[in-house]
Amino acid sequence: MRTKRKSRQEFKNLLVTGGCGFIGSNFIRYLMANNGFSGRIINVDKLTYAGNPENLEDITRDFPGRYYFEKADICDAAKLTEIFLKYDIDAVCHFAAESHVDRSIKDPGSFIQTNIIGTFNLLETAKARGDKFQLFHHVSTDEVYGSLGAEGLFREDTPYQPNSPYSASKAASDHLVRAYFKTFGLPATISNCSNNYGPYQFPEKLIPLVILNALAGKQLPVYGDGKNIRDWLYVEDHCDAIWTIMTTGNIGETYNVGGNAEIENITIVQMICVILDEISPALNKKPHRELITFIKDRPGHDRRYAIDFGKLHRELGWSPQESFKSGLQRTVNWYLQQKKWVENIKTGAYLSWMKEHYGS
Ligand code: NAD
Ligand code: TYD
Repeated sequence: MRTKRKSRQEFKNLLVTGGCGFIGSNFIRYLMANNGFSGRIINVDKLTYAGNPENLEDITRDFPGRYYFEKADICDAAKLTEIFLKYDIDAVCHFAAESHVDRSIKDPGSFIQTNIIGTFNLLETAKARGDKFQLFHHVSTDEVYGSLGAEGLFREDTPYQPNSPYSASKAASDHLVRAYFKTFGLPATISNCSNNYGPYQFPEKLIPLVILNALAGKQLPVYGDGKNIRDWLYVEDHCDAIWTIMTTGNIGETYNVGGNAEIENITIVQMICVILDEISPALNKKPHRELITFIKDRPGHDRRYAIDFGKLHRELGWSPQESFKSGLQRTVNWYLQQKKWVENIKTGAYLSWMKEHYGS
């Protein structure tokens, strides 16, 4: 079954889950800034440690009547039904997830709850909307495919072989979305994307962690031999790919999204050190690379990810616009400029602010 989507004007009330996180907040800003979307966005977010309403301060201020926030857990099925009815939801873009591999190794339970049960609840709620419902877009990761050797690329037909509790839970959610399309005819699309970087990324992930540690004169931890490879994509390019799929993709299809930027971790860390040596030299004048520290490898650490995004390029005309070099420079500049955001994250002040405004 392959059905062309009609037109983007159809989305009147788009529910975005996890909109206070890294990619979700960039996506909401991307949609509000341009791209012909004139409907309402309803952001449903539980506000875990990774969700920060400050990421959308400008959107909240600038788009009253078009942007709405609902603090809710996607594991709460009754609350989801209430929200879908309240806003007459006709489309979903589903980002909400526990997203960090290291945390999934220490404490996999919340990954199973949010990524699997939460996705199941959303699918059920969307299905209950019947004909009113236009599209469920599921945002997923290339990590579901497992690890590559020195050669080859992940394609849409690469067998799933997830290696971490995180990627296993995302794989399960992908399968559920596909099953709801096949079995119930729920209009759905899936994207599997490589590693993102850019503004508003929580500093537990490699790039923001290294930037902020280097600025603070702290160790730059590199797992194992530092030669693991990821295929990096600037977050705005990912948002553009998602919107391209949502508006012109074929229902029931999966699209791989990648940056054509395979880089070893150690090279990235060194690149950040070079940028910072130039624009924010250490007070003691020592090169930042002296902070690099090789540490014990992550268990089950996937060696290499690389994406073939040929299908998305050929069928929907998408390709990444930002080069890794300029995207990294932009990202470092952003973290240097956003002193308040960084300070609130580092001190945990954003957590107390969230508690005060939205309860525990
Ligand atoms: P993130 O951790 O920055 O944000 C996740 C958001 O989801 C947070 O705002 C959090 O509060 C919210 N959330 C978590 N559990 C929730 C729940 N039970 N109910 C409601 N909200 C909840 O994640 P991200 O990096 O922005 O990733 C977003 C999505 O993109 C995820 O599904 C992830 O698997 C996928 N993805 C991420 C990358 C990447 O490099 N970051 C790459 C490919 C795909
Ligand atoms: P990460 O940003 O956690 O994303 P993912 O695990 O989803 O790919 O890690 C990116 C790569 O960087 C991965 O190979 C693990 C490595 N890494 C480090 O070497 N040191 C770190 O402190 C972190 C967080 C990651």
